[in-house]
Parts: sequence; structure tokens; C-alpha cells
Amino acid sequence: MENLDWKNLPFGYMKTDYNIRCYYRDGKWGDLEVSQSDHIDIHIAATGLHYGQEAFEGLKAYMGKDGKVRLFRWEENAARFAYSADGIMMARFPVGKFREAVTRVVQLNRRFIPPYGSGASLYIRPLLYGSGAEVGVKPASEYTFIVFVTPVGPYFKGGIKPVDMLICRNFDRAAPKGTGIYKVGGNYAASLRAGMEAKHGGYASTIFLDAKRKKYIDECGPANFFGIKDNTYITPKSESILRSITNMSLIDVAGSLGIKTERRRVPVEELSEFSEAGACGTAAVISPIARIVDPDRNKVYKYCKDGKPGPVTMKLYNKLVGIQYGDVEDEFGWITIVE
Ligand code: PLP
Ligand code: COI
Repeated sequence: MENLDWKNLPFGYMKTDYNIRCYYRDGKWGDLEVSQSDHIDIHIAATGLHYGQEAFEGLKAYMGKDGKVRLFRWEENAARFAYSADGIMMARFPVGKFREAVTRVVQLNRRFIPPYGSGASLYIRPLLYGSGAEVGVKPASEYTFIVFVTPVGPYFKGGIKPVDMLICRNFDRAAPKGTGIYKVGGNYAASLRAGMEAKHGGYASTIFLDAKRKKYIDECGPANFFGIKDNTYITPKSESILRSITNMSLIDVAGSLGIKTERRRVPVEELSEFSEAGACGTAAVISPIARIVDPDRNKVYKYCKDGKPGPVTMKLYNKLVGIQYGDVEDEFGWITIVE
């Protein structure tokens, strides 16, 4: 793809050459099928349409300086995909098939993998939904799996440039015993109004608080939250947030850099004690936070001097991204090379 402006790619959809599909019928998964169409034919009574029986994943393929294509911790995405399927009673997509589908879709769309040094990557979006017809509220007996790819730049504009976030008390993303821990479409639908309110105010994202007490930090739109205090990486423990693979990885990276880590409830007031703060996720990578605005409490928390990310955030970012692009040794065994 010679004529793509790789350095300025948005986080958006672009048609690529192929996607892969697979169907669950009569209690079993069929073979992977390659498609050139980016449309689907769907039953008007599919549970995915009516009752939100839908889960997805997000992972990336990175082009290294050595010309090798790297997948980052795909096994964790496969496991979470199965966990999400269980959470809303869908047929699990087998791990072996997940690997095969993800590998093939990357191989088939190789010309769309952004070059090393562009700051972009190939976003891989596996999707699973109830495609069987039901009118009563119950799980479907047929499911469809699709995986497509699209080249993307960073989710929050500016990449490693610090962004502002808005604390939101008007909307909840997920209830404590609800579906917040699964990567299912309904959670994102529930987050849209809050997200738009934040965007209209000039913020990159909303910070959701725990829905029950509005006392603790949950997460930052489509990313987990972390704060830094006394050389310690602190990230919320909550039963209504997605278990971010990036966050899990940053905890290990922090450990390897001599940074202490804590996963525990983070009260809103503690925001005043952090020296740095950020959002992390596959799409977000690490987005340093410049300011968190809490309009209901009339508070503004500031984390950046001269608009620059803090030193601990940068150390974590450099090592994580270094591993993903193959510039830093993969001491954790997180990388799979796509031949
Ligand atoms: N939280 C939410 C709600 C997300 O959608 C995502 C993105 O997947 C994350 C956190 C980050 O998770 P991960 O690091 O596994 O991409
Ligand atoms: C990701 O980080 O992979 C996400 O899924 C975030 C978002 C675009 C939904």
C-alpha cells in the first residue's frame, strides 16, 4: 500500500482485502471461510441484533525493524473471548481456531500492515454473535465468528501526547454484577452518551466511577486507568471493568523496571496524590493524562508539566511498545511471530 499516509492514520475502519468467518451450527463449529466482502447477511431475528448477544476482541499486529510481524499475547485475547462468550451464554470460539483465524487474516492482509516507525499498527477485530433466530429472550443455537483487520493510528489523538479526561457521574457504564467484565457490545452502547458528553467538552474520554457508590475509579472509556505515586503503579480493582491485557502486561513490565505495583480500589480523592496518571489498552496503548476534571466536585487534577508525560509513564511506554515492535527483548514470552 504505497500511497497510504501511515503516520497520520486515524483509529478507524478501512477496507482490507480479506476477512475470515466461521459458523456454529448443530452444536459444532465449521471450517474457517475466507471472504472478500465486508458485509454480512443476517437473520432478522438473530439474537445478536435483538438481545445483544455479541462479544468482540481487539489485538494488534506490529511490523518490526527486522521485517517480522508480531502478535502480542493473542492467547489472552482468545481466553477473554471465551470468557465473554460464557458471560452472555454464547458458544465459545475454540482457542486453536482463534489462533488460526487471527494468523491467516494477518497473512492475507499483509500489505495493510503499517511499516515500522510509522507509529501505526494493524488492528485485529474478532467478533462473535448470536446469528440464530429467537424471539423469546434466550441464547441462540447458532453463532457467527468474524475476524477482520484494519490499519490504525493511536486511539487518542497525538499518541503519547497527554489528554484530558472528564469524570462522569451522570451515566454508568456497567453495574457491579453486570457485564462490565466481559467485552460485549452492550457495555459500549451504555458508554456512548457519556463519551459524547466528554468529546463535546473537549475531553479525550470519560472516567467512569463505580456505579454503586460513585466512590472509586472504574475505567477510562475504552481503556483501564492507572496512577503513579511514590514509584508505584496503582490500578483499580473492580468487578465492573474489563481486565485489560495491556494493564496486566504493564504490571509485569513495571515489576521488571523496579516499579512497585498495586491493584486495589482507587478512591476519587486519591487522584490528588498521583504524580502521573494514564489510560491503557490495546487501542489506547498508553495515553498519559494531562488533566482530570471533576465538574461536580469543582476539582481539576493536573499530572503533566509542560504538556509532557511523566518519567514513569515514559519508562513503561518505551518498554511495552519496544517489546511489541521487537526493539526490546521479549523477556516475558508475549510475542508470536506471524510467518
Ligand atoms: N477497558 C475497556 C472497556 C476496553 O474496551 C478495553 C479495550 O479492549 C480495555 C479496557 C483495554 O483492554 P486491553 O488492554 O485488553 O485492550
Ligand atoms: C481495544 O483497545 O482493543 C478496544 O477494543 C477499544 C475500543 C476501540 C472498543
